[in-house]
Amino acid sequence: MSKVAVVGAGGLVGGRVVAGLDKSGIDSLELTLTGLGKSIGKTLTFRGEDLTIEKTTISKLKSADIVVLCTPTEASRQLVSELRGGPVIIDTSSAFRMDPDVPLVIADINPDDAKNHKGLIAGPNCSTIQLVMVLKPILDRYGLERVHVATYQAVSGVGYKACCQLEEESFQRLCLGKPGYDPTDSEFPHPIAFNVIPQVDSFLPDGYTKEEMKMVNESRKILGLPGLRMSCTCVRVPVFIGHCEECLVETREEADLDDLRTLLRGAKGVVVLDNPQESQYPMPIICDGTEEVYVGRIRKDLSSRNGLLMWIAADNLLIGAATNACNLVKLLLSQG
Ligand SMILES: NC(=O)c1ccc[n+]([C@@H]2O[C@H](COP(=O)([O-])OP(=O)(O)OC[C@H]3O[C@@H](n4cnc5c(N)ncnc54)[C@H](OP(=O)(O)O)[C@@H]3O)[C@@H](O)[C@H]2O)c1
Repeated sequence: MSKVAVVGAGGLVGGRVVAGLDKSGIDSLELTLTGLGKSIGKTLTFRGEDLTIEKTTISKLKSADIVVLCTPTEASRQLVSELRGGPVIIDTSSAFRMDPDVPLVIADINPDDAKNHKGLIAGPNCSTIQLVMVLKPILDRYGLERVHVATYQAVSGVGYKACCQLEEESFQRLCLGKPGYDPTDSEFPHPIAFNVIPQVDSFLPDGYTKEEMKMVNESRKILGLPGLRMSCTCVRVPVFIGHCEECLVETREEADLDDLRTLLRGAKGVVVLDNPQESQYPMPIICDGTEEVYVGRIRKDLSSRNGLLMWIAADNLLIGAATNACNLVKLLLSQG
């Protein structure tokens, strides 16, 4: 019997980790679900049984073989320090991703990195995962010279409170004719309903945001390309689920577009949806609830040498966090 604890089980990612483990096919799995406050006492169904979310205690977590942290960064930092030397930890937060002693793993991309873990494995940022799932096959076939990405990120990337805010602001604007934005209780620096905000996370002195540098640094680490020339602009849009990315990739060797589409069709977890004449391309409404990364609008860039343009979309909660966390649980159990 493998014992797995999911911390933050009542959150957007945690709930999807539980659902993912439910259908994972892993035999003999005993789950413990914990949270901080609001979710305690709620139940989630796991293999026909209603499991109650309990208060998080270190002794409870220490009795598990694997602990999956679906908690905010500071909570993860604290829990990891208290659990060190106990169960193997999979952390979905940004707390340890760039720690050189912690492998940063996408199970479908760099599973071997998980073999060298020292009790802790980090899962990447949601925007990073969907990008790297497409970049890796391109790197392996053509080589990578440069990457530039503009993201269109859904509010669920910030957690359940942000989804409630978008809903409430939209309702107040549409139905009551009020602004509906309360700057003292907001997940965003501006109203998010009927708006587009070119800021995700806080700004660094060089003008990039922390989110933008997370994408750059995490992609470099996972791909094993510390010198990859890469930059991003991360933008928040009023969509509930599904991050989109406009991506310019300059390859070392020139890529033929048909060959590239065939390559991506064969890539694990990637779906090519590229029929613009029929208005078929990736969109949040298509990827919401799915466990694939969608890529389309594939064409040559007119402004660079060997440049390719593409449009990528994926469910940020599943592909961007929960699916990978479940795959990491499977990977760890298969490694014994
Ligand atoms: N959302 C995404 O697209 C995404 C993608 C990749 C990575 N991530 C990362 O995944 C983590 C979870 O994100 P989320 O979107 O699921 O957030 P969320 O919906 O806000 O859920 C957070 C959960 O963490 C629990 N929690 C908070 N502090 C805790 C503590 N000290 N001890 C135990 N539980 C605690 C909360 O419990 P209560 O409900 O009981 O208060 C809540 O259930 C974050 O680190 C986030 O950065 C998120």
